[in-house]
Amino acid sequence: MNITDQINHETKIVGIIGHPVKHSYSPMMHNLTFSLQDLNYVYLPFDIPTSNLKEALKSFNTLGIKGLNVTLPHKEKIIQYLDHVSEAAAAVGAVNTVVNESGLLHGYNTDVQGIVETLNPYKNEIAKSTVTVIGAGGAARSVIFALLRNFKVEKINIINRTGERSDSIKDYFNDKMHFRNIETHELMPIENVQVFKSSKLIVNTTSVGLYPNVEETPTDISDSFDKSQIVFDLIYNPIKTKFIKLAESKGATTLNGLKMFVVQGARSFEYWTGKTMDTKKVLAELNKVLS
Ligand code: ATR
Repeated sequence: MNITDQINHETKIVGIIGHPVKHSYSPMMHNLTFSLQDLNYVYLPFDIPTSNLKEALKSFNTLGIKGLNVTLPHKEKIIQYLDHVSEAAAAVGAVNTVVNESGLLHGYNTDVQGIVETLNPYKNEIAKSTVTVIGAGGAARSVIFALLRNFKVEKINIINRTGERSDSIKDYFNDKMHFRNIETHELMPIENVQVFKSSKLIVNTTSVGLYPNVEETPTDISDSFDKSQIVFDLIYNPIKTKFIKLAESKGATTLNGLKMFVVQGARSFEYWTGKTMDTKKVLAELNKVLS
């Protein structure tokens, strides 16, 4: 059934707030699932600049909007306007899901679960290893939190274009999780080769290589990779970034961001509806669209 055929006075509204939001596949994923599972919900994109964030949240509450996903650039700033924040979201310092519970706004971070479920099949290999995280934004924080909480890694290298941001994450996890074995490096592909080589797992959390800039990559030096490594790019559009193709050419195990995207969405969906998303169907559908 077409989603608009079933909108009536009982339809519950959820959506995504960000700036911009036009590239998001979340409306497609959630509306497809509402339709497949015959749920009377609709998922809408809301393009809200930061200057309107506080007012927008008040309006969402007034309008009785049931829940939200939160994307760039609001994941961190939104916390101050929420009534309650989950332990993981507070520890990461970022919220990507909001649930309106009788007028009170609760914040969660389901990105962490997406990361954990993507890496879980490699848990034994990752435990006690050295990991390199490229990037120092909200996504990097979620990855580092997941690595410390669920995978007990030994050492973390952070590679980022802007040194102050890496240092600030390093201090943050020193303080919050008492993890001291973090080394920071600038994004200088030639000098980063040794850092990559020493890592069991390498994770790209930056937007470098995201559609339409598919020719960009955090490193184009194939010597950075070998077949003993796991290389994870959080990007899912394109499914295979240049970075992933390079790692694959050296025999590394590669992971794209599609599973993480679907798992984070499925957890948000559960918070709003109390139902389980059919992630296999959604993954198959997204793979078709993105390929
Ligand atoms: P998110 O919450 O998705 O992590 P973010 O907080 O804006 O988003 O962080 C984006 C990350 O991608 C940052 O590490 C950023 O590097 P800077 O800290 O130097 O800004 C990185 N990034 C984005 N575009 C980049 C580019 N063209 N080259 C290198 N790094 C880039």
